[in-house]
Formats: sequence, structure tokens, C-alpha cells
Amino acid sequence: MLVLGIESSCDETAVALLEQAADGGIKVLREEISSQTNIHELYGGVVPELAAREHLRNLPLMVDALLGRQKKSWQDLSLIAVTRGPGLKGCLLIGLDFAKGISVATGLPLIGVNHIEGHVLAPMLDNPALQFPYLALIVSGGHTEIVEVRGVGDYSIVARTIDDAAGEAFDKSANLLGLAYPGGAKLAALADSANGRVPKDLELPKVMREAEGFSFSGLKTAIALLIKRRGAEISADASLRAAVAKSIQDSIVGTLMHKLARAVTQTGLKRVALSGGVSANRALREAAAALPGLSVFVPSPLHCMDNAAMIAYAGLRRFELGEKSALDMSAISRWPVESMSIRTP
Ligand code: KG4
Ligand code: ZN
Repeated sequence: MLVLGIESSCDETAVALLEQAADGGIKVLREEISSQTNIHELYGGVVPELAAREHLRNLPLMVDALLGRQKKSWQDLSLIAVTRGPGLKGCLLIGLDFAKGISVATGLPLIGVNHIEGHVLAPMLDNPALQFPYLALIVSGGHTEIVEVRGVGDYSIVARTIDDAAGEAFDKSANLLGLAYPGGAKLAALADSANGRVPKDLELPKVMREAEGFSFSGLKTAIALLIKRRGAEISADASLRAAVAKSIQDSIVGTLMHKLARAVTQTGLKRVALSGGVSANRALREAAAALPGLSVFVPSPLHCMDNAAMIAYAGLRRFELGEKSALDMSAISRWPVESMSIRTP
């Protein structure tokens, strides 16, 4: 069984060929990701119209190259899996219409995939040892949630953000430090260059520790105030800048770990999977690995970020459950992952 995965929900155009062998083994044969960072960094954030135009330009070329390099033709495919939501409507529509076109022309079945379900299942792609049930900590530019994953299509939310997402918190803080969008990885690299512990006077408040959900907007305010107070000093002193970055990273990672540890106690689950762009963060991976008594699984760096292999994988797993999408399916810009549950919670 050969699945073509297509992802175009935000600013990455991604395509993948996923193969399932007769014994059920899954292998990513080839994948391509075209990032639009250089286009959007000029504007300090993703410009939806520009992103959609890039997807429109890139997708046909990328799929053609993917099949060509792998010496496959349309006839070799068994399924097309495409991100249906959540994401930027105009961007989703490009991917969906492209996938529908292929389906009409070839007669191949089509499945519209929930992008967050893709992130939830992505750790399974690279970790065959990961078994259900597990807790998934999804940390990306648009989402921060802890999901109890009991099986494919069997999810409930343990905690989610009430304002900014973890990636957004990284990016906005990076912006306050003068780092170009998306600054998450740049802030992380700066933080990792800091020497020793964060000095007391740079420590940030521990925000909303006792609340049910995540919140990062208070942190953003605290950083803005710190930079307002000591901005000139911070920009003039490289080691101080690194210490501030470390303080920000410690604070975001500390909040995520605090809520993750609570979710572990609440659910009794001992398997934890990290996913989404922020799960590439070294400090986060190390902090999760240090939580006592847990088995922690992370996707490969490529599958942490938006990618089409996870979309192909989630599409395949739902297709196996008998699902198929109709040609008139529309894009869904807001689509909570728990609504993907097939079983009653
Ligand atoms: O999952 P993703 O590629 O796209 C979304 O679905 O949002 O996540 C992108 C987010 C951005 O906010 C980016 O700054 C952040 O992940 N990110 C990081 C790191 N690498 C990417 N944040 C912290 N540390 C990193 N190493
Ligand atoms: Zn994502």
C-alpha cells in the first residue's frame, strides 16, 4: 500500500510517499518539505495570501519530483491523504483542491486529515516501540495541548492553551530580543550558549501554574517589561542576552513540564510522546527525559515540524478504520483534535 501525503496548512509545503508492507511495517520512502520562512520573515509572521500562492506554485512540482525520483507513477498509489484542517483556509484549499484533482483524474481514494491528529500520531512513525495508550504533548506554533491518546480516533484533551501556543511564546519572545521570525530555534540556540544558571534578577514569574490549561501571555508581558527596563544593557551585552534567552526557555519548558507531570499523575499513563515544532527543542527533550518513571518518545527532527509523512500516516490509519472523504469535503480552519474521536469519550 502506497500513500501520497500532502501538507499545506501553514507556511510549509510538504509531500511524502509512505509505504505499508504486507506485514504492516511502515516506511517513509521519500519526502520533501519546502519552507517559506525567507518569504514571511520580511513581514514578521506568516502572510496567508503569500503562503497560499507559494503552495499553488510548489505543490504540482513537488509531487511530480517526488514520484519521479522514487520512480513511481499514479498507478502505484493506493491512497491520497491531505491536510483538511486546522490551518489557514486559503492554504488548506490549495492542498485540498490539488488532492481532489488527483483523485478525480486517477480514481484514487481520498482522505482529509486533521493536522493535529497528524502531530499526535507522528511519534509512532519513528518509534515502532510506542504503543497506545500514551500522552501526547503537542507543542507547535499554533497549538499547545496534552492529549490522552488511547488509540487511533480515541482522544481526549487533558490540557490546552487558553492564549498563546508554546511556539508562539518562543517566537514572540525572540522578536522582543530582536531575532528574526520565526525566532523559536534561534532563541533556543542563544539560550543553549548561556553559561551556568540564570541569575535571580533575570528569572521570570511562574505563570498560571495551578490553572487547568496553559497560558503564555503573562510570560510575554513579563519579558516585554524586562526588556523595557534593561533593553539597552541586554543588547549591549552578549552574555546577558544569552542569559535572558535561557531564562525565557527555562520558563516555557518549566511550564510545559509542570503541566505534563500533572497530566501523568491525573491519567496514570507512563508513556509520553512529544510532537510539533517546539519538540525539536533540546532543553524540552532533556527535561521530559528527566521526568521520573516515564518512557519518552519523540519524532525525528523532520517529523517534529509540519511534514507530510505524518499526514500520510494519520490518513492511512484512519483509512484502515474504513474512513474515506467525499469529493465535496471543505477545508476546516478550526478543528479540535478531540472531535476526531470515533469512540465516545
Ligand atoms: O509544528 P510547526 O512546524 O508548525 C506549526 O504547526 O505551527 O511548529 C513551528 C513552531 C515555531 O513557533 C518555531 O519557532 C518553533 O516551532 N520551533 C522551536 C524550535 N524549533 C522550532 N521552538 C523552540 N525551540 C526550537 N528548537
Ligand atoms: Zn503543525
